[in-house]
This record gives sequence, C-alpha cells and structure tokens, in this order.
Amino acid sequence: MKKVAILVSGGGSNMLTLCDSMVADHPARPVLVLSNDPNAKGLERATARGLTAAAVDHRQFGKDRAAFEAELVKLLDAAEPDIICLAGFMRVLTASFVERYAGRMLNIHPSLLPKYKGLNTHARALEAGDAEAGCSVHIVTPELDDGPILGQARVQVAPDETAETLAAKVLIQEHRLYPAVLRRFAKGDNTPVELT
Ligand code: GAR
Repeated sequence: MKKVAILVSGGGSNMLTLCDSMVADHPARPVLVLSNDPNAKGLERATARGLTAAAVDHRQFGKDRAAFEAELVKLLDAAEPDIICLAGFMRVLTASFVERYAGRMLNIHPSLLPKYKGLNTHARALEAGDAEAGCSVHIVTPELDDGPILGQARVQVAPDETAETLAAKVLIQEHRLYPAVLRRFAKGDNTPVELT
C-alpha cells in the first residue's frame, strides 16, 4: 500500500476528494495532511475526518525558505510518504526540496498547462478569449508549474463567463481529475489521464 501526504494552503477541497478516493481496492492511503497555514480550513476538515494533520507556519521563517522547508521535511519524512500531492499548496518550493522528492510529488494547477503558469489563471484565460479552460496534474519539477503532465480535464468557456464562475466549473473537474491521476500513478502508471 502506497502512503500519500497531501499539502494544502486553503480550503482543501482537492485534499478531501483525494482522501475520499483512497478507500477499498485503491493502491494508496493518506498518511498526513500538512499546511503552511495553521488556520487553513483544509487542516480543520482533515482533522474532522480523523486524518493526521499538522502545520508549519511559513510566516515564522520570514524569507528563509530553506528553514521553512527543513521543518516540512521533518514532518514529511517522519510519515514516510511514497507520494506527495500538492493540493492548493500556495508556497513556491525550492529546487532542493523538489529534488528530494523527485518523481513522487504531484501538483494540480487550474489551467491547461503549459498555458497560464502561476496565479490568476482563470482571469488570464478569459482575457485571452480562450474557448476552453481546465486543469492539469503534473509531476513537480524545480521550474514552477512545469514537469510531465499526468492528466488534464477541459471545460468550455461560456459567453458570460467570469473568473469566479470559471474557477467553480474547473474546480468540479479538478475533483474528478486528481483522484483519477493519483489512482493510476500509485499503480506505477504514468499514462496521461484525459477527461472531457
Ligand atoms: C485549486 O483550484 C487548485 O487548482 C489551486 O488552488 C485551488 C485550491 O482549492 N492551486 C493553485 O493555484 C496552485 N498554483 P482547494 O484548497 O479547495 O483544493
């Protein structure tokens, strides 16, 4: 059975759908939910589900990313995860952290990568007049929102779409895509998942 740690910064809806998927014949189980924000709603929701949850408050480390990440590493390595899922984790990770978990850290990003790396993805898709938008799950590499794509899901952009309505539509697809990719990845299969 593969062990999965999930990193969150906010509401944790992707974390919950991942945890809900890891039951029965699923090849993995959640072992730890970790956040950079002690007040993240996702931590509360994880604890309420009986999951082990912890926080390392990045604000206590100022600009010292290495010191922040050293604390993350302590907690992560104690849980011995085979796979780490970033699920709305909003801190940029250093190359040395990423390399420590090379090939076993996944991220979900709310755009059809390689388009719109970084923030405000939905507003940027609308600004560009894109007819479709979506989300991607990829293996994390030191370059931000880069790395081999393990799956994408697409939505059509409606004529009256706003960044908020688009975010809500894409989030529904994120909740389908991430569990589908994780199930495949945990079995050692990196064939991209394509959802429509
Ligand atoms: C999701 O839309 C996720 O794709 C995005 O943050 C949201 C978290 O929601 N992630 C990023 O923008 C990462 N750069 P959640 O906390 O409800 O899962």
